[in-house]
Amino acid sequence: MTKVTTLNQFIIERQSEFPEATGGFSRLLHHIGIAAKKVNREVNKAGLVDILGRTGVENVQGEEQQKLDLYANETFLDELRASGECCGVASEENEEVVLFEEGLAQGARYVVCMDPLDGSSNIDVNVSVGTIFAIYRRLSPVGERVGQGDFLQPGRALAAAGYVIYGSSTMLVYSSGNGVNGFTLDPSIGEFCLSHPDIRFPQRGRIYSINEGNYERFPIGVKKYIKYCQEKDARTERPYTSRYIGSLVADIHRNMLKGGIYIYPETESHPRGKLRLQYECNPMAFIVEQAGGRATDGERRILDLEPEDVHQRTPFYAGSEAMMEKVTDFLRFFDSI
Ligand code: AHG
Ligand code: MN
Ligand code: MN
Repeated sequence: MTKVTTLNQFIIERQSEFPEATGGFSRLLHHIGIAAKKVNREVNKAGLVDILGRTGVENVQGEEQQKLDLYANETFLDELRASGECCGVASEENEEVVLFEEGLAQGARYVVCMDPLDGSSNIDVNVSVGTIFAIYRRLSPVGERVGQGDFLQPGRALAAAGYVIYGSSTMLVYSSGNGVNGFTLDPSIGEFCLSHPDIRFPQRGRIYSINEGNYERFPIGVKKYIKYCQEKDARTERPYTSRYIGSLVADIHRNMLKGGIYIYPETESHPRGKLRLQYECNPMAFIVEQAGGRATDGERRILDLEPEDVHQRTPFYAGSEAMMEKVTDFLRFFDSI
């Protein structure tokens, strides 16, 4: 029988990669795995029970929340609190950061930034959604109150990051800075099992992912790059294929396995971009880079941006090295003329 490595086994085996390893990080990830299984259960029955639908309240970005957003938020918050290893969370669904100040959490060394349910507009049509998480070591001394500074660390300071994709199967993909590994949930045993060891982002690709409905409002360099993707050229295997799910997690996941580029540039309605730096772009950029791809805001490396607000937005370009190089050339060239 083939030997299966579960997520828990894997993180315990890899614990020694953390210089200060005490099992704390393993516990944190273990609880993230539990939350993912609970959210997965609800996502799977979303069409069956009355958890689906709008709550009628708006989140801090002024977007309408759906019930599953709230469920996922509460579930991840509960599990992170229960881990005893997390002293606070910045979430897309909470305007203010949530601090855990009681019990075990007082001695906790990690803070988490998360998008509990990404791509939520896809739920009612049975299309993949995700969860994104970013784990930082706190900067403030253990025992003292966690401050904004703990949540406003640049992506390059990440201790680990990952995502869960609730798709045709459910996967948890994470990196703690030594490559990227993917685990598929085996529903028969209720465990995430190592299915995609050492994921590598193909250096070239043929998929471009962008919401072309916004075409008229894109920067000129992006418009020209889209046209480049659509032109016929046998040598460079163009035209490329357009694929856009509208769940960042699912779009990046596909492109990382197959080779491609994801772009959410600044537009008229979102002059600073739409995606959020701390709990969407930084964790996804960390994964992308760890797999050998590249992620920028069109100019600067995402992981080097200095965050000022936990909910701040940024343009986002992420994908295969060669495609990122090409789009960057277009942006530079057309910006300068
Ligand atoms: P969320 O559901 O967490 O608000 O995120 C939605 C994000 C992201 O997942 C996706 O790539 C993007 O918004 C889609 O935006 P458009 O509908 O504007 O293309
Ligand atoms: Mn999102
Ligand atoms: Mn969300």
